[in-house]
Amino acid sequence: MGGRSGIWYNEGMDDAKEEIRARLPVEDVVSQYIELKRTGRSLKGRSPWGVDKTPSFMVSPEKGIWHDFSSNKGGDIFTFVMEVEGVSFREALEKLAAQAGVELTKYGGGDKAVAERKRRAREAVELACKYYQFCLTKNKAICEYVFYKRNMNRKTVAEFRIGYAPNTGKALVEFLQRKGYNKAEMEAGGLLNRFGGDLFRGRMMVPFIDTNGVIGFTARVIDKGEPKYLNTPETVLFNKGRFVFGLAQAKESIRQNNFVVIVEGNMDVISSHQAGVKEAVATSGTAMTENHLKILSRLTPDVRLAYDGDAAGVKATERAIMMAGSLGVNLSVISDYHGAKDPDELIQKDPLLWQEAVKNYRSAVDWLLDKYEENLDLSSGMGKREYSDLAMKLLRYVNDAVERKHYEQLVARRLDCSVEDLRAKKIEVSAPKRLKKLELEAQSDVLQGVKDRLQAIVLLGGVESVKGVEVPEDAVRQKELELVFEERYKDWGKGALEKEATELLARYKAEMAKQEVDSLTEELAKAEDAGDDEKMSEILRKIMVLKRGVGD
Ligand code: UTP
Ligand code: MN
Repeated sequence: MGGRSGIWYNEGMDDAKEEIRARLPVEDVVSQYIELKRTGRSLKGRSPWGVDKTPSFMVSPEKGIWHDFSSNKGGDIFTFVMEVEGVSFREALEKLAAQAGVELTKYGGGDKAVAERKRRAREAVELACKYYQFCLTKNKAICEYVFYKRNMNRKTVAEFRIGYAPNTGKALVEFLQRKGYNKAEMEAGGLLNRFGGDLFRGRMMVPFIDTNGVIGFTARVIDKGEPKYLNTPETVLFNKGRFVFGLAQAKESIRQNNFVVIVEGNMDVISSHQAGVKEAVATSGTAMTENHLKILSRLTPDVRLAYDGDAAGVKATERAIMMAGSLGVNLSVISDYHGAKDPDELIQKDPLLWQEAVKNYRSAVDWLLDKYEENLDLSSGMGKREYSDLAMKLLRYVNDAVERKHYEQLVARRLDCSVEDLRAKKIEVSAPKRLKKLELEAQSDVLQGVKDRLQAIVLLGGVESVKGVEVPEDAVRQKELELVFEERYKDWGKGALEKEATELLARYKAEMAKQEVDSLTEELAKAEDAGDDEKMSEILRKIMVLKRGVGD
């Protein structure tokens, strides 16, 4: 982890960024992801994040800047790749450097050594993958397992780069040594055990592949043995909380068909692709994190979970719902496996059944409400209480008021009570901290849009400075504001701009106050639970002041 979050940026990097910017026109980078059409001096396309009906994504070749009017994101080629690929700045830089043919180590200054170590680790892991692929062709038992027992065809084996790790203890180490790699480099790639021998032995090798190549492996025993899967530990290349298995192979289809299926096992991903459902991905050997979902939400809002219907599957789906609302994800569940235990098993029965299954999805909220019902006795008072507890907790995460009302009515009908009865229930409100932060982030999209416009007017509209609005000094940001200004305010007179600024400022303040009220309301509920009357009246006073301010 340390290596990943560590600072790897220095002044030499500014030169590298400039060099890359000079070589890669913004429209070329963006059009790898979005279809752009020229309109006057700029280009327009559909937002990869928004649900825009009219193209609201703009690119200015002159300025080297993009801005998305539906999500209020914007910036240069680096921020674009970060957003659209869901990667860190460093990864975006590396990717674009490779495209531009810019050698980053030349600019790295003091961090040259770090970059170089990482590059060597990457090469070692890539070579290891090639070596494992070669070994597969030489071993009869593994071929039997891969081609007959797991039913993979040649194309799948090639696409997913399936291999075999020999069982001799140091076959890989010796191979890599002959190729000029030392133990420290192999260790950095996560290829060694603690005695300095091969970590992976006698296993089927499935590489973890990201946009830049192989970063690690998951390795399955061929017969029996523990553990069933052995995974690369966290390394400078591989971070399991961010890595989505199969995304490199699925990205195209996800974008094209606008949905993604999340399955539990890596082998389910592979089988699914072979069965023609190329939108399948998995989180490898770990529960889904916000990062995983965020990365996927940038490609499509339609996320379908194909988890087990067991208790763990219910928990995982609940967790996903808590994250989905604030990311603008429509979460649904695929649950009909015709008695098979996972997608892979279903596909072995009949690939068509899986193709059907992914089209047969239900809203995750509906699915969970049914699951709760299955496990409780709704004819008893206690069962009703438990059911309504679970349901109301879940519905807190349904952001849309109309949708939430729909579910409240559904729950009320099931319990033979009224929506008012449900709302009168006192539900434990303390949402986990991380989630609260996400909710705030989502709200701040609106704030960001208002702020963009205000700053654009102050910077370019000839309007006297507006109190409380600072003009950014960052050059990329200024160019982005120019784009916002030209798009919205090009032909406006000074008077109109001044009026607009006043209105925007009021909206900005109201929006800020609203967020403050929201967080105070949460605090109020906590104080109430704790029976702290003094605190409660203090918070109430603050809320009243804020509300009065907004009303003015
Ligand atoms: P499963 O045991 O359901 O795997 O674990 P599977 O995909 O059905 O495997 P096969 O079909 O028996 O080969 C699901 C996921 O949990 C992780 C792996 O990522 C696996 O894909 N896992 C499982 C491990 O990391 N280690 C293990 O020992 C087992
Ligand atoms: Mn399986």
